[in-house]
Amino acid sequence: MHIEVVKAELSEVERLRALRLAALETAPYAFGAKYEDELLKPATSWQDRLKNTYWCFVTVDGKDIGLLAVDKAEKDRKSDCWISSWWISEEYRGKGIPKLMLDWVESLCFDNNWEKIGLGVWPENKRAISAYIKLGFVAGSEPMPSRSIPGEMYLPMFKDVGSKV
Ligand SMILES: CC(C)(COP(=O)(O)OP(=O)(O)OC[C@H]1O[C@@H](n2cnc3c(N)ncnc32)[C@H](O)[C@@H]1OP(=O)(O)O)[C@@H](O)C(=O)NCCC(=O)NCCS
Repeated sequence: MHIEVVKAELSEVERLRALRLAALETAPYAFGAKYEDELLKPATSWQDRLKNTYWCFVTVDGKDIGLLAVDKAEKDRKSDCWISSWWISEEYRGKGIPKLMLDWVESLCFDNNWEKIGLGVWPENKRAISAYIKLGFVAGSEPMPSRSIPGEMYLPMFKDVGSKV
C-alpha cells in the first residue's frame, strides 16, 4: 500500500470538490456543513477555499481517499492554527493514516511558526476523539458553540507542537 499525503494545488478544484462531497455524503454525522448545500456551490467557491486554506489530500496507490484543511486560527480558537474537514474513506480507516496527515500538519506548523494546533469535534464522535487522543490531542476544558450549526456545541481539542527555536 503506497500512501501519499500531498498539499492541494490551486488548480485542483475538482479534486477538492470530489473529496469533500464524498466526506459529507458518507460521514454526515461528523461535520457541520451539509452535502446538499455544498453540492450546489459554484466552482468559484471551491477556488476561494483553495486560495484561503491549506488542504492536504491523501492517496493510496494513486486513489484519493482522504483530506483535511488547516487555517490560521482566529483569536477565539485559542490556538495558532485550526484543522477541519478531517476525513478518511471508510475502507482506509484503522491503518495509521491519521498520523501521516498530522505529520503533514506539523510540518506546516513548522513553516508558519505555529505552536498550537486546535480542532473541533462533535462530542458523540467517539472514533474521531479516540484517534485525536492517540495523536496527542487533549480536550479543552469546556465545549464551544458551533459556528456552522447555531445551538450545537463542539469539543475543542489541542496539541502543542513547540516552536522552531
Ligand atoms: C476521524 C478519522 C479521520 C480517524 O481516522 P481512523 O483511521 O479511523 O483513526 P484510528 O483508527 O487511528 O483511530 C480511531 C480509534 O478509535 C477507536 N474506535 C472506533 N470506534 C470507536 C468508538 N465508537 N468509541 C471509541 N473508540 C472507537 C478505534 O478502535 C481506534 O483506536 P485503536 O487504534 O486503539 O483501535 C476517520 O475515522 C474518519 O474519517 N471518520 C469519519 C469522518 C470524521 O469523523 N471526521 C472527524 C471530524 S472532527
